[in-house]
Amino acid sequence: MSETILVTGGCGFIGSNFVHRWRREHPADRVIVLDKLTYAADPGQLQGLEEVELVRGDIQNRELVVHLLERAGVRKLVHFAAESHVDNSISGPAAFVQTNLVGTFQLLEAARQVWAGDPGCRFLHVSTDEVYGALGATGKFSETMAYAPNSPYSATKAGSDHLVRSYFHTFGLPTVTTNCSNNYGPRQHREKLIPLAITRMAGNQPIPVYGDGQQVRDWLFVEDHCAAVETTVTLGVPGETYCIGGDNEWKNLDLLNLLCDLVDEALGRPQGTSRALQTFVTDRAGHDRRYAIDAAKIQRELGWAPRVDFRSGLEKTVSWYLQDAPK
Ligand SMILES: NC(=O)c1ccc[n+]([C@@H]2O[C@H](COP(=O)([O-])OP(=O)(O)OC[C@H]3O[C@@H](n4cnc5c(N)ncnc54)[C@H](O)[C@@H]3O)[C@@H](O)[C@H]2O)c1
Repeated sequence: MSETILVTGGCGFIGSNFVHRWRREHPADRVIVLDKLTYAADPGQLQGLEEVELVRGDIQNRELVVHLLERAGVRKLVHFAAESHVDNSISGPAAFVQTNLVGTFQLLEAARQVWAGDPGCRFLHVSTDEVYGALGATGKFSETMAYAPNSPYSATKAGSDHLVRSYFHTFGLPTVTTNCSNNYGPRQHREKLIPLAITRMAGNQPIPVYGDGQQVRDWLFVEDHCAAVETTVTLGVPGETYCIGGDNEWKNLDLLNLLCDLVDEALGRPQGTSRALQTFVTDRAGHDRRYAIDAAKIQRELGWAPRVDFRSGLEKTVSWYLQDAPK
């Protein structure tokens, strides 16, 4: 049966990859994207998807969200829209409080008003593993861990997760939350680590390495994350949260070294050219040391597993930034 899905933040990195995937996998469905088109957005990300309706607007505008949910009979809402860059949350946290916290609150209120207790609807809240804080040398984040956010970004995401949880428990709104590790892949803004590094390498410019470069992140190809979001909005149990990760831990410096070699290979230049551009810079304030995800629950209960191995995912990413990405 075809239906209408509302995707917030669908002109950003993960949201746009998700919209492409949903159109491919559910061609009969109607897709509405609600996006404020901040600096992080690019409506060109939806090129080739003329049938997708793009509404420029703020998730804080409850009346607009109510109108969209009612007009199209939306029963699935996938919420990606956020201020997402940790560095920006340190220099200017206010926008993070507005969009991530107040915006999520307004979306929840709109869904509560329009869906009025209909258990067949789904509010899928896309969140991050950063809400759990930082790990030591061992252990992994899982759904039962206590929240301990360290940056204004992760604090506002943590707050929004709590609001979503409360709307399930208090009002019976059928919400599902996902907490995912670091994504990489095509269509990510060039401010983020991997696209920034590729861009600098291609332009023979210094590549900043924060601190000692020994911070560990668990990297997941964006298409695998989108498949997990598709799985959870379809099969996820209301009130539940699911941790999503690639079981793919890399120290930032090791990742940059691999990326340097792949870019040199792609550009047909001597190995070592890009590595010579690495420049150590002062570490980010409050920089979490290690993130890693235990994704056993979503694998066991919903049958999702990552498919793309890191090297081939990185090769696809390098090729997209060097050849296909808007300059
Ligand atoms: N990128 C990652 O590695 C990662 C990992 C785990 C979870 N997440 C979460 O996934 C979601 C998407 O992340 P991303 O990397 O694609 O972000 P992004 O910054 O690339 O895109 C965010 C999108 O949201 C839109 N937006 C921002 N404020 C808005 C508002 N007030 N109203 C409507 N639209 C607004 C922007 O215009 C942009 O299109 C976020 O909620 C983020 O917390 C990201």
